[in-house]
Amino acid sequence: MTIGIEDFCEDIVGKAMRGTNMSDTDLAAMAAVDVESIQRLRRGEGDADTVRAVAKPLGLHPEKLVDTFNGAWYPQDRDVDGLFMVNTAFSEMFVNAYLIWDTVSREGAFFDTGADASELLSKAEEEKITVSKVFLTHTHRDHVADLDRVKAIYPEVAVHVGSRELLQGAGSVEHGDVFDVGALKVSARLTWGHAKGGMTYVIDGLVTPIAVVGDAMFAGSMGGGMVSYQDALRTNREEILALPDHTILCPGHGPLTTVGEEKDHNPFF
Ligand SMILES: [Fe+2]
Repeated sequence: MTIGIEDFCEDIVGKAMRGTNMSDTDLAAMAAVDVESIQRLRRGEGDADTVRAVAKPLGLHPEKLVDTFNGAWYPQDRDVDGLFMVNTAFSEMFVNAYLIWDTVSREGAFFDTGADASELLSKAEEEKITVSKVFLTHTHRDHVADLDRVKAIYPEVAVHVGSRELLQGAGSVEHGDVFDVGALKVSARLTWGHAKGGMTYVIDGLVTPIAVVGDAMFAGSMGGGMVSYQDALRTNREEILALPDHTILCPGHGPLTTVGEEKDHNPFF
């Protein structure tokens, strides 16, 4: 399954402008370009020189932003035994959810449900996986849309959500909590800023470490800092980019990526 990169250059510029509270006029003045150039850029037009000029005042990495503008990068394909990704349509957009399992005991967990959990449920059945837990990265509607159906099919399943985002029938997760899924260890890290209680789940025990990051980070971008842009940047740096470079990141939107690729290509960092 090939999934397009979630954010274009104009989306990244828009998120950084909202996050730093900057108007078109402010940015034009700081970048020493005219307001029309900023507006063209925000419509997805413009040119690499303007992209380079706006990057610094927005705290973005100029060359990484130019690469994004040119569509010069896409993360490498990944295939990991014990990791299954689904990408489902939720109104105008697409959202990811994951099934991750211990390949020996075949105990597994869902990470979010996406818009439609059908493929997660059928994969679990096909692979004869016992699903014991559901971990929610955050409670934005697109990520939890099919939770009721999952709970109806797996009445015994334990649902976990970050303690700052209570959800009826779900147990609350604190930063630092560790859960077992068969022989896998799932450690929770608070990565908030996009969502009030956004959680990243780091999974150890497969051939490579995995982190399910929700909308904290995307391949080449990140979720908008709707609650706190600065805390989103900070917790992404401290809790996600500090993981080993080969850690596979499973975002809520867009393709899989790795810590190393994000360090090299994500204009926010
Ligand atoms: Fe979200």
